[in-house]
Amino acid sequence: TRPLKVAVLGCGVVGTEVVRRLHGAGAEWAGRVGAPVEIAGVAVRDLARPRDAGIDPALWTDDPLALVKRDDIDIVVELLGGVEPARSLVVTALEHGASVVSANKALLAEHGPSLHGTAAEQGVDLFYEAAVAAAVPLLRPLRESLGGDDVTRVTGIVNGTTNYILDRMTRTGSGFEPALREAVEQGFAEADPTADVSGADAAAKAVILTALAFRTRLDPADVYLEGITEVTATDVADARSRDRVVKLVAMLERAVGREEVLVRVHPAMVARTHPLAGVGGADNAVLVETAAAGPLLFRGAGAGGAPTAGAVLGDLVTAARRRLLGHRETVPPVVVPGHVRPMADL
Ligand code: HSE
Repeated sequence: TRPLKVAVLGCGVVGTEVVRRLHGAGAEWAGRVGAPVEIAGVAVRDLARPRDAGIDPALWTDDPLALVKRDDIDIVVELLGGVEPARSLVVTALEHGASVVSANKALLAEHGPSLHGTAAEQGVDLFYEAAVAAAVPLLRPLRESLGGDDVTRVTGIVNGTTNYILDRMTRTGSGFEPALREAVEQGFAEADPTADVSGADAAAKAVILTALAFRTRLDPADVYLEGITEVTATDVADARSRDRVVKLVAMLERAVGREEVLVRVHPAMVARTHPLAGVGGADNAVLVETAAAGPLLFRGAGAGGAPTAGAVLGDLVTAARRRLLGHRETVPPVVVPGHVRPMADL
């Protein structure tokens, strides 16, 4: 069988891990996929920066556009983050017949429907399990396993950095800034951690979850949003004295008998008995409540190089197998604008 060729865009915390795990493990990947998997190129911003991912130096490039235009690429793994140039590169990759695996929540929140449209036109796949809750399998269960049920509410901790900061503040009385520095050092935070602490990262994830749980398209700007920058040590201590913990919570809720879905992200006092209260470190947890299945809890590593790379590689295996088997047609998720009206406030 011919080898499947993979191009990787971006080689930060997650990209380095993906490249390292793909490289030189040909036999193992052939066993998982059914054919050898080859890295065809890795696009980075700065070629001069020293890197240790163990691959042939000839595979590094600072021209991602040339890479995604190559007709021999089967799968493009987009790990650049941010909307541009990621969007244009993903569109070009899809138009050139590659399947795309992305971990880019900002991109999917803003342009998910149109990217799905392009993928469907081309008969290729677009997967992004790593974009929400990293290693925790959540998007595929929502789209597929729960596709016949009715989701009524989703309550989640979907940002590892802010959970790490709040957990540190709660457990050790640490200040905000040192806890943020630790989260950055451990590779949980975004390249610009403002996206984490402002709640914007969680809001993008809430938009993706809304599309899958409620089949509703939402503009990220319509999510009621409050980050954790104003949370003080006093707030955390107050919560503790009332047997509560402060968590940054994303909540998507369909009001009984109504068409609206409330979507909001803000710090909340969570009772110690609530399933989200004990979620520590950079972990994520998402409680999905449905009409038939009742409450389901998805919990685990929500940020960081290895867990996120694990989810990316899982999508890569699925996309690779589908190409090999010739199942290239995809059906984009049904997302109906306006079917459920977003409400920005309570
Ligand atoms: N910066 C993100 C977080 C990474 O802290 O959750 C995972 O999406």
